[in-house]
Amino acid sequence: MQVRKAVIPVAGLGTRFLPATKAIPKEMLTIVDRPTIQYIVEEAVASGIEQVIFITSEGKSAIENHFDYNFQLDHLLKEKRKTVLGEELSHISNLIDIISVRQKKPLGLGHAICTAKNVVGDEPFMVLLGDDLVHSHKPCARQMIDLFEEVGESIVAVQRVPLKDTHQYGIVEGDSEAAYPRTHKVSRMIEKPIPGASDSDLAIIGRYILMPEIFEILENAPPGHGGEIQLTDSLQVLCKRRAMYAYEFDGQRFDAGDKLGYLKANIAFGLSHSALGGPLREYIKQMASTL
Ligand code: G1P
Repeated sequence: MQVRKAVIPVAGLGTRFLPATKAIPKEMLTIVDRPTIQYIVEEAVASGIEQVIFITSEGKSAIENHFDYNFQLDHLLKEKRKTVLGEELSHISNLIDIISVRQKKPLGLGHAICTAKNVVGDEPFMVLLGDDLVHSHKPCARQMIDLFEEVGESIVAVQRVPLKDTHQYGIVEGDSEAAYPRTHKVSRMIEKPIPGASDSDLAIIGRYILMPEIFEILENAPPGHGGEIQLTDSLQVLCKRRAMYAYEFDGQRFDAGDKLGYLKANIAFGLSHSALGGPLREYIKQMASTL
């Protein structure tokens, strides 16, 4: 069982980032020198994924165009002998096989994932959420695929968060799994628990490897938190049927859909940029001394 396909939901309206996202998809906001969605797709590619399935909605065509071949631009860059730029653009359009599926109604993350059912078929698949950027040595998705090759069951990526923040996440309860480092066997999952509903601080971040059985559960799922069909609720059903693991990935996660998280991601990714990292570090030091 190989994880070959990655579902990336990009249908959301990006209201947390208005007015910046009034006319452009939030996934096209730039971190340093690339749109956030390119980091996500590059993580999938670097992890060995062979096909990406975007779950889109109206007004999101800029995302598809970004990964497409642009004949006019290519022609112009060749004429002007801008070879390096031309190569960079062809790298993006040749990154990976991409398929788009429309989510016809905004019924929630669980519904968005279910839209990919026919394209994914009967095999385990990865889900990457576009708001969650992970800065790490080994790509987060690859870390999870390595674990999947051992356990052969669904895996959700988690990080510990302060208990006062657990209401913002899907929360996982379980016992640590001695056989595998950083891993917990999931016993219960709750989407955005109210205070006191769980004493776990293990929060789901936007990386999942799911067994295809999830589709049948999602198809019959009632609305949950916020009146939406929640992926976490269906994962709770799945974890009662078969084993599921939570994995504390190695790396730093940024919520790029939040204004402060987005600024932090720009700084972290900027500092590790080959050309910009040095000068940016100097600038930050200078600024810190004047604060
Ligand atoms: C979604 C999931 C939630 C998860 C979060 C991670 O929530 O429903 O379980 O913890 O992503 O970013 P959202 O942030 O879309 O409300």
